[in-house]
Amino acid sequence: VSDEPYREELDPRLTAVAVVAFDGDGVLGRAPVAAKVLPGEHWVLAASRAVRSAGGSLASLHPFLVRGGEVVAWAELRTTGVPVGSLDGAGPLAALAAVERERLSDQAWFRDVRRLLEAHYLAADDPYAQSGKSGGAASWEQGRRFIAGACHRSGTFLDVGCANGQLMESMVGWALADRGVRIEPYGLDISPGLAALARRRLPAWADRIWVGNAWDWEPPRRFDVVHAMPDVVPDHLRRPWLDRMVARFLLPGGRLVLHANDPYPEDVDRRTLPDLLSEAGVRASGELVRERPGKPAVRAAWLDAPA
Ligand SMILES: C[S@@+](CC[C@H](N)C(=O)[O-])C[C@H]1O[C@@H](n2cnc3c(N)ncnc32)[C@H](O)[C@@H]1O
Repeated sequence: VSDEPYREELDPRLTAVAVVAFDGDGVLGRAPVAAKVLPGEHWVLAASRAVRSAGGSLASLHPFLVRGGEVVAWAELRTTGVPVGSLDGAGPLAALAAVERERLSDQAWFRDVRRLLEAHYLAADDPYAQSGKSGGAASWEQGRRFIAGACHRSGTFLDVGCANGQLMESMVGWALADRGVRIEPYGLDISPGLAALARRRLPAWADRIWVGNAWDWEPPRRFDVVHAMPDVVPDHLRRPWLDRMVARFLLPGGRLVLHANDPYPEDVDRRTLPDLLSEAGVRASGELVRERPGKPAVRAAWLDAPA
């Protein structure tokens, strides 16, 4: 069988995955971790399963090769509970993966994040998991409701990365109850499949849910509050991404609200939201911290546009 570069059109024909998962200079396992793709399953889910059974979880997943029915991908680990080994001992595929990792373009980064999240969210049947939050309604409220505290005035609210639209929907009630502000929700997502799901779930707002990459999307209007998560952009683009949203997405006096969880002890990337902002060289106009029993705190921070 001949090797060919990975293309999304090949997805329906893929029957197995092999993943070279990196933690810094090390890799998980002595050989790429592998799994069969189950009938009806997206290969991305098989890749997640393979990495989990080897003692890690995925932060990103970048397919680059198809050989026979097997897709070969490299990945960054989100968490690892086991020590990683050296790249040198991990075989020729790992060496090839290391080369691919060096030359990932920004466009490929965005496309690969989209594929990873979309495959997981679209396979979930509870609305919170379709927005990337496991643990059901209670965990959703614990992890998200405090963001309403940053909604400083009534008006329009854009959720950047709206997934199935659950935050758009929840925020209307939370902002009114907790801050007495009335918001009109809008959504943007890079995934056409997730935006379609959001429109089906929220037909009254279907024409306010757009498909686009926040990095280069031209908003058709401006908003009072824009909510985003800082991990949907690569590190080296975070500063221009924040500047662009403040300058182009917000109304005068509008607010860009960011939120992120503090790291777990097993997380590979241990940076908090304040760390990410200070690395990007921006000073928040304000912040909120929500402690959670048995879990790391979740934080919000905001940047205000000039009035
Ligand atoms: C964790 S979900 C967030 C759901 C919801 N906004 C929340 O905070 O609970 C992240 C979403 O961001 C979307 N996304 C990722 N990169 C994006 C980008 N560059 N532009 C727009 N949306 C993006 C993903 O498709 C995914 O649906």
